Amino acid sequence: MLRRPRRNRKSEAVRNLIEETSLSVNDLIFPMFLVEGQGKKIEVDSMPGIYRFSIDTMLSEIESCMKLGVMSFDVFPAYPESLKDAMASESYNSETFYLKGLREIKKNFPELCLMSDVAMDPYSSDGHDGIVKDGKILNDETLEVLSRMSLAQADAGVDIIGPSDMMDGRVGFIREALDEYGFTDTSIMSYTAKYASAFYGPFRDALDSAPKFGDKKTYQMNPANVQEALIEADLDMEEGADFLMVKPALAYLDIIKLLHDNYPLPIAAYNVSGEYSMLKASAQKGWLENDRAMVEMLTSIKRSGAKIILTYFAKEFAILKS
Ligand code: PBG
Repeated sequence: MLRRPRRNRKSEAVRNLIEETSLSVNDLIFPMFLVEGQGKKIEVDSMPGIYRFSIDTMLSEIESCMKLGVMSFDVFPAYPESLKDAMASESYNSETFYLKGLREIKKNFPELCLMSDVAMDPYSSDGHDGIVKDGKILNDETLEVLSRMSLAQADAGVDIIGPSDMMDGRVGFIREALDEYGFTDTSIMSYTAKYASAFYGPFRDALDSAPKFGDKKTYQMNPANVQEALIEADLDMEEGADFLMVKPALAYLDIIKLLHDNYPLPIAAYNVSGEYSMLKASAQKGWLENDRAMVEMLTSIKRSGAKIILTYFAKEFAILKS
């Protein structure tokens, strides 16, 4: 045998030499959940190890993550039913706890990269990402709300706006609004190929944001489809997105690779709540080794072409590597 592939696997040193994909804390964005109040740190039942924080406890959590090298955070708000309405009007109330929280985070840690979420669902009494009328999700009317929300978040100091709503035309609409009001440096990470997935369940528990009727299939993509991801990416490219995101990640590695191979923008992947909970549940039962499976999952996402990974494992991974 002239060719023995095992020679390149003979020791850790050799294996490290030929390792093609390396994962670093620099690649990670840590999604976090913010609630109103003080002194709160409430574990999400379906996401062991993940909490809803009030702003004070969130600031200490962010500080401890930064000491471990995690520098990017995506903050989502969990609103009580009493503050939700059909138009998500709380989303651009400048005194609302989410916007105040974002401002506070950026004031305490100006060097971190702060990302926010743009979609109506956390503030909507219908639990949908857009305005609902007669059981339908209105596209163009929703754009107005999304742009007001984006301006309010940009004004709070957010570095990257993350439109997760999947309305058509929203990236361009938000980009124009941001530029018009002088927020030319605020970036947009578009949820480009966001699928109507069963893997968002635990996130909706964390936010109490599940749709009150129906599902999200008229705006999120069909998990069976590939071609549409190219249309979405073309549009986001034209409309000025700075990053293209694929979501979920693990069941969509082919989509990550497709966008990576066809677009020059940095590709992000959202390793979503259900993907996190799946591993946590089996690790708790002793069926999978948590750390090895976590690193393997994250590595596979990076290997498929994502430079950036939004993941609930961010802090755990940083601890493992420290
Ligand atoms: C809201 C939003 C969702 C997620 C991120 N932003 C849920 C949804 O679309 O229903 C899911 C994140 C996760 O599951 O970790 N538009």
